[in-house]
Amino acid sequence: MSHDRAFIQRTCRAMVELEDGQIVRYPYGYDQYVVERDARLERARVEYQRQKEHVEKTEDFIRRNLAGQKTRQAQSRRRMLEKLERLERPEDNWQMAGRIALNFQTGGDLGGKEIVRAPGISVGYPGRAILTEVTVNIFRGDRVGIVGPNGCGKSTLLKTLVGELAPLAGVVERGAAVRLGYFDQKLSSLCEDRTAIEEIQSMRSDLSPEVVRQYLAKFRFFGDDPFRTVRGFSGGERSRLALAKMLLFPRNVLALDEPTNHLDIPARETLEHALDGYEGTLIVVSHDRYFLDRVCQRLLVFENGTLEAHLGNYSDWREYRKSQVAATPAPEKPSPVTQSPTEITRAAKKDRERTRRRLERMVESLEAEVSRIETELSSLRTQLAADHGGDWHKLHALADRERELGDLLGRRMADWEKASAELQRFLEEV
Ligand SMILES: Nc1ncnc2c1ncn2[C@@H]1O[C@H](COP(=O)(O)OP(=O)(O)OP(=O)(O)O)[C@@H](O)[C@H]1O
Ligand SMILES: [Mg+2]
Repeated sequence: MSHDRAFIQRTCRAMVELEDGQIVRYPYGYDQYVVERDARLERARVEYQRQKEHVEKTEDFIRRNLAGQKTRQAQSRRRMLEKLERLERPEDNWQMAGRIALNFQTGGDLGGKEIVRAPGISVGYPGRAILTEVTVNIFRGDRVGIVGPNGCGKSTLLKTLVGELAPLAGVVERGAAVRLGYFDQKLSSLCEDRTAIEEIQSMRSDLSPEVVRQYLAKFRFFGDDPFRTVRGFSGGERSRLALAKMLLFPRNVLALDEPTNHLDIPARETLEHALDGYEGTLIVVSHDRYFLDRVCQRLLVFENGTLEAHLGNYSDWREYRKSQVAATPAPEKPSPVTQSPTEITRAAKKDRERTRRRLERMVESLEAEVSRIETELSSLRTQLAADHGGDWHKLHALADRERELGDLLGRRMADWEKASAELQRFLEEV
């Protein structure tokens, strides 16, 4: 038993951990153990989340269809759900220790009404204009997401808005009371040779090492992490350290360029929580749909070489885009058989109908199979419980078959879970 990681690393070739009263053995040295342990936890989380969603959706299906044309299906699904072995929510005891509430401070002053005013600016690099004649205005309390495909110029725009890069034409004005925190996608604010403590002290030399360690713990740097140098940090650690540096002073405007890119789920959640409670103005570049939905109220979207403003979050925008695409007839593709738009829709409808039927049949046949296996299992168990009259040979055969059927039942339940989740997804698609 040791908490000295350097010691463990030098001496141990396998790790054993107590997880919820169970012993889990990891046949690795410490470094690899940490990686494997995280991967294992991550898998368990994904599995748990997947099952949870599936159960919720199935329950919803049951509620809606218990009285109606699909009563039989609803009843069958209810029986299946009762049988489903529920996964437990995986807990990470390490990370629970790190779930310290982060609080982003604005310092009380939220800034003037206008945070950024950029009328008719052009954005890009000399000889390479990315946007021309666009107007961006950002007001106090705005929560703006900047979205668009890779390489379209999101970072360039953000840099221009925060003053890291001059516009090619026009002027970007920022409110006088703006105290800006900028999180750079490239994390260029970090110095490779400094330790985490030195990084923090480079901005706040007034803080004692002990206070710095407490501060770093909020960003999940524990044990000897604060003494390690940036060079040896993972992407996630670098992101957390850059956030920690940015938040050393109260900021009333945060400009974050892909802040969640390297963060694991708990770190993302901590950041989301902190941003929920943040009262200042937010400008965020992200590809993370969940994060955007949670954090932003309007969007600037790079589209066809220009910038479009949308009120609403990312999901709203996606819905809007979908409805637009649906409203525009698909351009006719050159094909050997020319089909009219109505023929295309009819064919697509038929296709969907076929897929739906196939999935429904699959779900139903798995339900039937599960029920068949259960019947056989229960009769086997009755036989096993009965007086075997000294026929060990027969008893063995029965026990083998029981084990076999038990395994099969588990596999078929898993198949059913997968198939019915797929069916649900399909029915939800527009
Ligand atoms: N310093 C620079 N000089 C010239 N061109 C650059 C410079 N930095 C980036 N670019 C180019 O400008 C374009 C936009 O880059 P930018 O990094 O703003 O895109 P992005 O949308 O942030 O991409 P990503 O999604 O990958 O972060 C790219 O074609 C890029 O190659
Ligand atoms: Mg970028």
